Amino acid sequence: MPSPGARWAIGALAISLLAGCAGDAPTSSTPPPAAATAVQPVPREPPPVAPWRGDPAREPPAPARFENPAIGRFHMRMHFRDLRRIEQLLLAGKLEDATALAPGLIAQIDDPGLARWKVHAKEVANAAVELAFAPGLDEALRRAPRIASACASCHADAQGKPVFPAPPPPLTDTSTAAARMARHVWATLRLWEGLVGPSDDRWVLGLQVLAATPLPFTALSDAPQLAAHMQQVARAQLATRPTAGLDDRAAAYGELLVTCAACHASLHVNVR
Ligand code: HEC
Ligand code: HEC
Repeated sequence: MPSPGARWAIGALAISLLAGCAGDAPTSSTPPPAAATAVQPVPREPPPVAPWRGDPAREPPAPARFENPAIGRFHMRMHFRDLRRIEQLLLAGKLEDATALAPGLIAQIDDPGLARWKVHAKEVANAAVELAFAPGLDEALRRAPRIASACASCHADAQGKPVFPAPPPPLTDTSTAAARMARHVWATLRLWEGLVGPSDDRWVLGLQVLAATPLPFTALSDAPQLAAHMQQVARAQLATRPTAGLDDRAAAYGELLVTCAACHASLHVNVR
């Protein structure tokens, strides 16, 4: 929990950053050009895999271009790193250390090339404020992925997607607890990439590992139920992938992270 002074500072920072954004219409509300409405209407079908791709009849806006690409990309990478770090700190039970990183995500880069998409920067800032005030570990684990889906809404809308390096293959499941946890850590990185991207491929890669790897458990603990629950959430997400939007994915990821933390607590695992 941030101190009252820190809370005030975070609130004031958020307000000053958000002021001036109100007039910016989201680009997604741009009406389709007249030519598109003249053609025979095509019956709406559910989107093939990625719901955020939006209406195919809509003329996409011009893609975002950073005016200062080196600084812009550097900031973006720092944001991604902060999200990962927040997750790791929360899984290690360090709520205060994790929420202390939230202000770094409230402050968005001020690149004129992103001005049209300011409304999404505001969504990221709002989600980061929510994280800063999370009342407990579980709630923080649920709120962190919502930041990532806000990042994704800009990437999808601005057509400026991060290209993440090709992932190494998942580690082999040698059925030791340590090997399985290493697979989980691999999977959570893919899930962050999948959410922030947004990238359907990465999202699926992460889920497949979580759905497939059996979990170490000890009798007389909650671990067996939690392990089963984690696999169920991952499988349900794989099944609903064609229609699940960014918010659904963020909620599912929050649920997965709460389950990771619950099992560690149940088994008194000390994650550093
Ligand atoms: C206002 C729009 C906007 C928001 C908000 C935004 N991004 Fe980005 N991001 C972009 C654009 C545009 C690019 C692609 C720029 C390019 O490569 O030309 C990008 C690229 C990236 C990259 C790739 C950088 C590289 O190395 O090339 C990462 C990683 C990234 N964003 C992470 C994030 C994270 C994490 C957040 C949220 C905390 C976020 N972004 C929020 C617009 C945004
Ligand atoms: C069913 C119980 C269970 C669940 C669910 C679970 N873990 Fe674990 N976790 C363990 C156990 C047991 C260990 C200790 C492993 C060992 O002995 O090295 C551990 C250890 C870890 C470690 C520390 C590894 C190390 O070498 O110090 C990390 C990181 C970790 N888990 C991440 C995760 C993540 C991420 C998730 C969710 C995607 C998750 N865990 C879900 C039981 C679980």
